[in-house]
Amino acid sequence: MSVTIKSQKEIELMRESCRLLSIVHDELGKSLKPGMSTFEIDQLGEDMIRSFGCIPNFKNYHGYPASVCVSVNDEVVHGIPSKKRILQEGDIVSLDAGLIYKGYHSDAARTHGIGTVSPEARQLMDVTKQCFFEGIKYAKAGCHLYEISAAIGAYAESFGYGVVRDLVGHGIGTELHEDPQIPNFAQKKRGIKLQAGMTLAIEPMINAGTYEVVWLDDDWTVVTEDGSLSAHYENTVLITDGEPEILTLRRDV
Ligand code: MF3
Ligand code: CO
Repeated sequence: MSVTIKSQKEIELMRESCRLLSIVHDELGKSLKPGMSTFEIDQLGEDMIRSFGCIPNFKNYHGYPASVCVSVNDEVVHGIPSKKRILQEGDIVSLDAGLIYKGYHSDAARTHGIGTVSPEARQLMDVTKQCFFEGIKYAKAGCHLYEISAAIGAYAESFGYGVVRDLVGHGIGTELHEDPQIPNFAQKKRGIKLQAGMTLAIEPMINAGTYEVVWLDDDWTVVTEDGSLSAHYENTVLITDGEPEILTLRRDV
């Protein structure tokens, strides 16, 4: 598949899909507390998505069993919600969610601290979020895709962090995963030239230690190989001729 350029009408649908998802994330973030199970988070998220008349795009995606990926501490992404996994003070928890509105997908992730977290965990979360903002400095028409990748990687590595290599960001639209793939580290080539109307899910996944990850036997949960903490931050972004529009961040609050 090639990279799609969205029409004005499609951009409106993407905006609404992403606006609704930003509400889901804000509400989920507010609901987190020690003692809560990761299953409860998924239920809240799925109920909210359906209450908007939307479809959770992750549910049953290649067999994934939930609507929200909940990844705790050394879990990088794709943690499977469970009634047995209870959040504790000091945990960091990455929530990755998406939905379909009138055929258009949105995708975003946030990492939250439960109560007070260690200074090391706080820094990892802050740097991972900032990686996204460093990357999108190059998310505009005329720039090349891997300028985004290089900026994300350089910022993370300046803190000695490991940039996950086995998972990447992606184009998004009428499908959850469209071309192009968007690595979070420098590439040998400069990549495609960005054009107004592209919609991209940019998602740094950053480990406090090694960049190496392993898959658990559930075939989904990705964890850091060395057991170090990991954080994830993602938004769906619209490329324009000027500044990128961060579609999954609320501007009205
Ligand atoms: N947000 C994830 C991504 O960007 C999708 C989760 S995979 C799923 O690739 F199976 F959980 F849906
Ligand atoms: Co994504």
